[in-house]
Amino acid sequence: MDILETFKSAGVIPVIVIEDEAKAVPLAKALVKGGLPVLEVTFRTKAAAQAIAKISAEVPEAIVGAGTLLSVEQVKAAKAAGAKFGVAPGFDPIIVNAAKEEGLPFCPGIATASELSQALSAGAKMVKFFPAQAAGGVNMIKNFLGAFRFTGVKFMPTGGVNLSNINDYFSVPEIICCGGTWIVPKDALDSEDWDKITTLASEAAEIVKART
Ligand code: 3PG
Repeated sequence: MDILETFKSAGVIPVIVIEDEAKAVPLAKALVKGGLPVLEVTFRTKAAAQAIAKISAEVPEAIVGAGTLLSVEQVKAAKAAGAKFGVAPGFDPIIVNAAKEEGLPFCPGIATASELSQALSAGAKMVKFFPAQAAGGVNMIKNFLGAFRFTGVKFMPTGGVNLSNINDYFSVPEIICCGGTWIVPKDALDSEDWDKITTLASEAAEIVKART
């Protein structure tokens, strides 16, 4: 799988924090229905691996990956569960290597020029810019591009991105997608309000369409 093309075609990647794996399949279906098939299930909860396994097995239209990969064990668990890609909030060569060994397409996180430089040296073609809003927002990426554009690097800002600022990010061609939790709010997940999640996904998908 070409992680770059997959992320670019999705435009918005829902960042999922799920406590109960029984909700994984209806959640994935609600997101796919709204037009967002590329999903990042974060390893911030014990349910992450099971949620990925269930989505992989039961929602073939979804392309599910693993987020917040902070250990080699999590990388292995993600791959074993069927994750198609991995994402991390920071740049850690140990995690990058583990993903390489597992054959898991991987997007490391960066927030500084030094981390971006290291991620490129490690072979990354795209990076997660995290935490995007707190670390300088779209202007920070524009400034990175002043020095790094010739490398061809692409960005996925995440952290504080939502409908109020997503178009600022989409004004930069090197920003191929944005990630965020706003599409899967905790209250909607807790109350199993799948219609609300589909609506939020549709709103985001409309913005992606308007961009292209
Ligand atoms: C992430 O890890 O990508 C962030 O937690 C998402 O940030 P958000 O909750 O501000 O969207």
